[in-house]
Amino acid sequence: MMQRKVPVITVDGPSGSGKGTLSRQLAHALKWHFLDSGALYRVLALAAIRHAVALDNHQALEVLGLHLDVTFEHEPMRILLEGQDVTLAIRTEECGNAASKVAAIPAVRTALLERQRAFSELPGLVADGRDMGTVVFPDADLKVFLDASAKIRAIRRQAQLKEQGIDVSLDDLFAEISERDKRDRERAIAPLVAAKDAYVIDSTSMSIQEVFQMVLAEAKKRHFIT
Ligand code: DC
Repeated sequence: MMQRKVPVITVDGPSGSGKGTLSRQLAHALKWHFLDSGALYRVLALAAIRHAVALDNHQALEVLGLHLDVTFEHEPMRILLEGQDVTLAIRTEECGNAASKVAAIPAVRTALLERQRAFSELPGLVADGRDMGTVVFPDADLKVFLDASAKIRAIRRQAQLKEQGIDVSLDDLFAEISERDKRDRERAIAPLVAAKDAYVIDSTSMSIQEVFQMVLAEAKKRHFIT
């Protein structure tokens, strides 16, 4: 019997663009699987820190990537590293920065490639990241590229952290976001760029609900969802 093709929506963009919220909402509304590829890089970075692997030790990081013992649980959503709950631990700025560093290593990206593709299962997949539409799922049915100004992304991130009881200065956040952006956009391998056939949305002055409706409408227009 012919295997039915798995429909895929990719959502790429810089951190704070709202792509995480958008992807989760899409996956929830469509009852599709969800890949948070950034979380995978974050878990790898945390594993490196915990196992005292230097962030410039490419070979050791590749081995760590190939053998990474990570589990994504649903309802409640939990991420486990070697059986330990790391859902919150991977969300720190320190871990995000470390993730951005390990993600710039080609062998690490290759080590995590098949693991990401394995998320593509029926009835469908929403994949959130930086290179979902360009490298991991080049045949995706809809490739969203969600952008927003660095200023508004810093403001959103500050509000998000405040909700978790963490106070961070806007200037510090803006500087960190700009530095991480630069590294993600300028790296030699799988840089953060919109795919040629991407559906580009600038969310600077849009609510997440407006973006969500735009993407659903586009998917319907393309007839791979009803
Ligand atoms: O989306 P995030 O902030 O959780 O991602 C953390 C880091 O991982 C980010 O700085 C860049 C990297 N990343 C990547 O290189 N490719 C992806 N597909 C997802 C994340």
